[in-house]
Amino acid sequence: MSEIEKLKKEVEKLKKENLDLKKKKKFGLVWEEREKEKNIDDGEYYPYLVKKGNAFGFDNNETNKNILIEGDNYHALKILQYTHKEKIDVIYIDPPYNTGKKKEFKYGDSWIDKNSGYKHSYWLSFINKRLEIAKNLLSKDGLIFISIDENEYARLKLLCDDIFTSSNFIGSFVKKISGGKNDSKTIKVNHEYLLCYKRTEKATIHLNIEYTKKDETRSLQKDGDNEERFNRENLWYPIYANIKTKEISLEFKKDMIEIFPIKNDGLERYWRWEYDTAIKRIDELRLTKTKFDDGEIKYDIGVFTPKGTKKELPWNSFISDFSAGGGTQLKEVLGKKIPGMYPKNLDYIKWICNLSVKKNPIILDFFAGSGTTGQALEELKKDISSHIENPKYILITNNENNICEEVCYQRIKKANEKYNYNSNLEYLKTELLKYDSQKHSDLDIKEFMVDKLIEIIKVREACFKLDEINKFLLKFAHINKSVYVLQDIYKMKKNDYDEVVSILKDDEKDKINIYILSMSNHEHYINKISKAHKNITFEPLPESFLKILRKIERKRR
Ligand SMILES: C[S@@+](CC[C@H](N)C(=O)[O-])C[C@H]1O[C@@H](n2cnc3c(N)ncnc32)[C@H](O)[C@@H]1O
Repeated sequence: MSEIEKLKKEVEKLKKENLDLKKKKKFGLVWEEREKEKNIDDGEYYPYLVKKGNAFGFDNNETNKNILIEGDNYHALKILQYTHKEKIDVIYIDPPYNTGKKKEFKYGDSWIDKNSGYKHSYWLSFINKRLEIAKNLLSKDGLIFISIDENEYARLKLLCDDIFTSSNFIGSFVKKISGGKNDSKTIKVNHEYLLCYKRTEKATIHLNIEYTKKDETRSLQKDGDNEERFNRENLWYPIYANIKTKEISLEFKKDMIEIFPIKNDGLERYWRWEYDTAIKRIDELRLTKTKFDDGEIKYDIGVFTPKGTKKELPWNSFISDFSAGGGTQLKEVLGKKIPGMYPKNLDYIKWICNLSVKKNPIILDFFAGSGTTGQALEELKKDISSHIENPKYILITNNENNICEEVCYQRIKKANEKYNYNSNLEYLKTELLKYDSQKHSDLDIKEFMVDKLIEIIKVREACFKLDEINKFLLKFAHINKSVYVLQDIYKMKKNDYDEVVSILKDDEKDKINIYILSMSNHEHYINKISKAHKNITFEPLPESFLKILRKIERKRR
């Protein structure tokens, strides 16, 4: 190769490197992606749900049940992506803090220990994938709260800024925790954090409600540093008052004095209210006076708040209540201490869930552990001082050391009996189907998947009762709409179709949703079905299901 050619090649290489550098992220968090769940993402596996334990507390119409899912939360979240897209109002999670302690954080099938050089990358890859799905589950006014300590706070904050955007960051609470590391020589850490983000600009949190304990009159003048007239000229205007009758007006009347927002030392300030607000809320304004030692009298305008007035205040970022007690509360229900378990305090989780402005929120905790979130929501339902009336929850936890089976499920069940929560729970478990074209026949696998899909649709419909109308048509026991599942469509004959069409025609509900458990082309019949009722929607099937069906179709071609 000539020198010129070598140089040309070198220039090309540099150009490419330059281009790659330009594409690289320039600000924020970067880490080495560590992959341990690739098979799920590649559609090699189909996650599905099976019944695990006895459900309890069925209500009459069988809808709106609380759900406990045992399994890896990544598998469960993949299912919720189909069943609960944009339906969750609040997510609370308490993930492993990545403290480096033995058997604290498991990713895929391996425990990540403190000596791993990629300890933070593993944790970030793990949490990133879960939060990406979590974001899609949140409704437009949804909120997410994440407990974390110093080990990963800084990285989690940057990650969440990327996922939820920094403009949706509501704030971080600093929560006092008991103890602190005894081996700390310099700073004994006795706090952790609660990170809060909203899904969109539209979302908001429930503010701190307080009621005034006595009648109060607070000056209408601003008096902070830099709150001087020249900063807000529009808030500098006279208010008129009659000293004898105490009447206040924004227009001058006979015998009235003129009052401007001027401090006792003569500094010109401005009012807290705009002129139009002062007109609207004139009844709340009062004339106040200060008498100085030399006999001089100075008049001011105050805002009157009677005793018992409801005030919405911002929260303090430092939380010093609920510092311990989670373990004892769990023991109170189960009758025994669970070693190695550090459940959160019930009142703390109640307080977090109460930050939702919704009356009947759907709340998800996908690191549920001992199920504190479930019990806290049951408590909240009973709490008449809370604005939350009828929350529903979805808890997901793995079964490490039988935590789901023996702690979480038992806790909700026993607490329900002990404290008369009048609750309900459906206990499910995730399974993975590995598509193996050598092992399974196409028909077997299709039938198997369709069968499993029904359990997933039950979760999507928040309804666990299905009535068989005929061998092709199933119907959910909804009260406000009709939801049908049409199966084995390829086996249907013309008269079967006619029967389905006539059932739909006779349906008196305003809205009909239909799931057709097939991928083949049945356009002709679907057209026919869609004309059977004025408002029919065909519901989509989960992407993971379709991916495997496509694989089967491809193989057959
Ligand atoms: C810090 S604890 C949560 C404790 C919980 N807030 C309470 O009050 O009981 C985290 C829990 O998440 C579970 N967990 C960890 N990784 C998980 C995963 N990938 N999928 C499901 N659960 C997981 C652990 O078994 C553990 O019980």
